[in-house]
Amino acid sequence: MLKKILKLDEDLAKDGPRSSKVHSVAALFDTPDEIIHAAAETSNAGYDKYDVYTPYPVHGMDAAMRMKETVIGKFAFLAGFTGVSLAVAMIGYMSGFDYKNIIGGKPFFNLPASIPIMFELTVLISGLFCVFGMLLLWNKLPQISNPLHDTNFMKYTSSTRFGVAIEASDAQFDVDKVKSFLAGVGGKDIEVVYYPEENIVPQTPIFNRQFIYTLILVAIVTALGTYGAIGKLVNILPFDWMHNQFKVNPQNTSTLFKDGRSMQRPVDGTVARGYMPYEYTGMPDSLVKLLSNPVPMDEKSITRGKKQYNTYCSPCHGYFGAGDSRLNGQFPNPPTLHSKKVREWADGNIYNVMTNGQNTMPSYAKQISRDDRWAIVNYIRVLQRAENAKDTDLP
Ligand code: HEC
Repeated sequence: MLKKILKLDEDLAKDGPRSSKVHSVAALFDTPDEIIHAAAETSNAGYDKYDVYTPYPVHGMDAAMRMKETVIGKFAFLAGFTGVSLAVAMIGYMSGFDYKNIIGGKPFFNLPASIPIMFELTVLISGLFCVFGMLLLWNKLPQISNPLHDTNFMKYTSSTRFGVAIEASDAQFDVDKVKSFLAGVGGKDIEVVYYPEENIVPQTPIFNRQFIYTLILVAIVTALGTYGAIGKLVNILPFDWMHNQFKVNPQNTSTLFKDGRSMQRPVDGTVARGYMPYEYTGMPDSLVKLLSNPVPMDEKSITRGKKQYNTYCSPCHGYFGAGDSRLNGQFPNPPTLHSKKVREWADGNIYNVMTNGQNTMPSYAKQISRDDRWAIVNYIRVLQRAENAKDTDLP
């Protein structure tokens, strides 16, 4: 019944004619124990060009066949090492010699920044080498079929029984000796497997002229098509989608300038928009006090100054400028902003402290815009006035 369902004995008529060249001698076994025993005996007898075929993994087979440890680990290591060396050589050459670019003041060849690429190439090269190595070295890619296919032996070993096939390429192969050896270890249905007529000369697509020509043709057509679409069509109106613009791209060449570069240094003394350079660095107090406050003392600037003061100054100077910092002694407490000295200072002196810093107090020019710094001065004036209110201020 089972045989009928699996059509095991059906004639193998679809298989092409076989030649007289022997590929292997194959024998079938009925139980896992038998096949383990047969595998052990085969390797004991000194055969090494043989393989065992089972419908499912049989435990203990590796040991019985005395299989050596796979070389895939060493192979992957070598490929990965090649990848990492390639990455180091590539990045080292590109950023260390060929196109030196200052990026954030870091060294031209910088290991931490190169690690992602080193990792990627390691994985890529070892992955590719392992896959193609498997296909070419182990699976012997040009050989896309095996003479054992379409034999009764293969039909059984892929469904209900177990088999050993000793191949003719084995050094001590002799058809009669192998037959009697296999019978001796309990093999049944011993069969000599011949190469199919068509397999003697490997007829695989890789060596087929038509296949190669087609492949070349497809490559040429694809390349031309891509070149036409991406290289030409996008530059033709109306398909150009603003691809062509009258502008100079960064890192490009330009005929406009003598040195042929599109990127030029700004002319000396250029001032960026929205940025007012502070010219009074290192100037004596007598000079900075002459700076006049360009921000009018009105409600708007006081409100703005209060907001910025509370954000940037109050952690050290306290909300009312008394020098009561909230930093719990982690930073030296500043003096009060209500001292006679600061009250008598011109606006320019206070502005100068914020802009250039003073002793332990750092500069806040980077964090606070010019106008906001002047607005803070206005707010400090308000705090000072409130602290020193006079009787006459009362209505
Ligand atoms: C990290 C803490 C800290 C912050 C924030 C800070 N200061 Fe100061 N400030 C100090 C210290 C400390 C001094 C005293 C420096 C010295 O020894 O001359 C000082 C001194 C000053 C002085 C001079 C006082 C004097 O008597 O010489 C002024 C004015 C001043 N700060 C204004 C400000 C303003 C306005 C802000 C907000 C933009 C600000 N500070 C933010 C710590 C700070």
